[in-house]
Order: sequence, then structure tokens, then C-alpha cells
Amino acid sequence: MVDNVAMSPNTTPADRYAVVGHPIAHSKSPTIHRLFAQATGQHIEYNAIESAPDAFADTLIRFVAQGGKGLNVTLPFKVEACELATDPMPSAVLAGAANCLAIRGDRIEAHNFDGKGLVTDIAQHHDTLLRGRRVLVLGAGGATRGALPALADAGPAVLAVANRTADKARDLQIHFAPHFALQAGGFEDLAGESFDLIINATSTGLSDQGLPLPPGLFAPGALAYDMVYGKGLTPFMRQAQEVGVTRLADGLGMLVEQAAEAFALWRGVRPPTADVIRALRG
Ligand code: ATR
Repeated sequence: MVDNVAMSPNTTPADRYAVVGHPIAHSKSPTIHRLFAQATGQHIEYNAIESAPDAFADTLIRFVAQGGKGLNVTLPFKVEACELATDPMPSAVLAGAANCLAIRGDRIEAHNFDGKGLVTDIAQHHDTLLRGRRVLVLGAGGATRGALPALADAGPAVLAVANRTADKARDLQIHFAPHFALQAGGFEDLAGESFDLIINATSTGLSDQGLPLPPGLFAPGALAYDMVYGKGLTPFMRQAQEVGVTRLADGLGMLVEQAAEAFALWRGVRPPTADVIRALRG
């Protein structure tokens, strides 16, 4: 356990929550939930728990036995969290992964709020409604899979996925076909297309690698959104900037908004988020 924050001087024991991951030391979740608790007057304790890669089930069992009420789950445990839950909710089932568990007696409910957090951030903090717009997601890994159902729910005119390994994008198209239409292919299939919102969900935001984006991909006024945060201008954002895109966003707002969904589920109170995002940037 690397962080432990008691959130209020109340004398009754605080309900316990935590984020579990590997690694977890630099997680912003304890800070975010402390700020939410302060803003809403909720009396909670929120820790960061480091779990060995093969020990997530034990970590979860121990947390439940100790009376824990809820967990945020981050890499690499999101798929396992969904599998271990007794009650996976549709958002987790569709994504095949969970980032939030609510513990209710001997039941464990699993949700995936990553997509909802992304859509809320784009709508509320970047003034972009997706209804009727053309939306492209780059990458076809877990981050994309988690985001697609909420993006589809927002009603875009076109929802597309492009991936270096085109077959992985097509696998997502098949997986989601019963629920919504998805355009899928490789980067070369993007030639001649343009989009109002382009989301980078590849892991290149963590490296210095750019992506093979064809000319004209960004429609006038497009928003270029990179899911990573805390990296400044990523290679994808720089590529967008170089072709004249002025609306750039990182994933910090998505992180805060998915946390707000978890907090609202656990506590029945919706925390304010704009000040928390500002505080984290500061
Ligand atoms: P996550 O769970 O964060 O989505 P992941 O499942 O490992 O991580 O997926 C990483 C994504 O980044 C994949 O879509 C990967 O493309 P491939 O499926 O072709 O491997 C993409 N990616 C990683 N490095 C890349 C690069 N240099 N150029 C383009 N795409 C890259």
C-alpha cells in the first residue's frame, strides 16, 4: 500500500475504497477521490494498492474480507476484474474489462466507466457533442475496446477504428456488430476520409512514435484527443498541430470523469470535476 488518505475528521469509521494496479505508485486516483470527498463532504478512505501481476484475485478477496466497498481497477487487471465479478454490468461485459467494482455484501458488481468518462470529458470540457459527427479511434487494444460502446451511444454519424494491425480493428467490428456499426481497417484505408474527432488510443502517446496519418484526415475545426495525460504534447498531438489543428486534448479529463462515475455509483453523490481537473493540471 503506497498511499493512505483519511478524508475527513469524522469519528465513525470511513468506508474504504482503493485503486489496484501494477504499477500504482504514481496513480492520481487517491488525489482525485480526496478532492471529490472534500467537495461533497463525504467521509471515505481511499488507498492505492499495488498487486503483483499474478495476485489480483487474492488482493480482491482480501479487500472484500476487510470490508472494502469499492475498487478502481487499472492496468493490467481490468480483464480479470470483469471475469471475477459476480455481477458484470453491460458496460463491462461489452468491453470485456472492468475499471470499477462495487462490493455489495458478497456480490461484486463490475462496470467500465472509461468510455463514459471519455465522452463526458469531450462534451463538458471540450465543447464537442458527438451526435451526427464523424469520429475515428486510432488503435484496437483494450483502451479502444473500452471506449467504443460509449462513443457509439453518443450517436456519431460515423464511428471508425483504424489500427496498425488491420485485422484487430476488424475483430472489434465483428465483436460489436450486434450492438452498433463500426467502420474498421488499417491506416492505409483512411486515405480520402476526414473526421471531426480523432482519438489516439494507441500506446504511441507514451513513446516518441508518430502515426501514418494521411493528408486531410482532420476536418476543419476537428478535435485531436490523445488518451494519455501528463506527457505534454504527444507525437499524435504534434502531428495534428503540424497540419493546422488547434483543438488538442489529453486524457486527464477522461481520467477525472471516469473517477466521478465511480464516486457517484459508490456514494450516490455526483462530484464536481472542472476544479479537480484544474487542480491536477496546476
Ligand atoms: P491498451 O490496452 O492501452 O489499448 P494494447 O492492448 O497493448 O494497449 O494496444 C496497444 C495499441 O497501440 C494497439 O492498437 C497497437 O497496434 P497493434 O495492434 O498493431 O500492435 C497500437 N500501437 C502500439 N505501438 C504502435 C505504433 N508504433 N504505431 C501504431 N500503433 C501502435
